Amino acid sequence: MRECLSNLHLTTNPWYSVSELADMVAIGLGIPSDTFREAGRYGCVFSGQLLCPSENFFSRPHLLAPTASDLVKYGEKDTILAGFHSDLNFLTIHGRSRYPGLNVWARNTGKRIPVKIPPGNNLLVQAGKQLEHLTGGLIKAGFHEVVVNDATLAVWTIHLSHVLL
Ligand SMILES: [Fe+2]
Repeated sequence: MRECLSNLHLTTNPWYSVSELADMVAIGLGIPSDTFREAGRYGCVFSGQLLCPSENFFSRPHLLAPTASDLVKYGEKDTILAGFHSDLNFLTIHGRSRYPGLNVWARNTGKRIPVKIPPGNNLLVQAGKQLEHLTGGLIKAGFHEVVVNDATLAVWTIHLSHVLL
């Protein structure tokens, strides 16, 4: 599998990268690399290998859920902007945010981990519930939350200082 993955080079366009990540997941599962990509394009095409709950399960538009919270209204420390959850989609893609506050949980530790995505074309990817369902729980959906913390407020203070000058 390592050899197969080394042949996949993520593009700099995050949307194409998502398709490539879906290919990597398929390779890791030992099924044809284009299984999920084709399922996303045409609906279920698993030839009976995997059960799909509805014909257009993958052809529905992805849900984009940036928190886009108003820190004027909800900028108090420890305010929960998005409670602990996993997403209903296939893959959850977290981009770099101007404001810290995203936390994830690693299955092997159970600890809350503050997310720090480096500048550049970097994304944090978590499995969604569709992927968990399709793999029978082999790959579990990743939990995450967004909470106002000290780092959020530090960036917010810098932002305000620039706006008010
Ligand atoms: Fe989410």
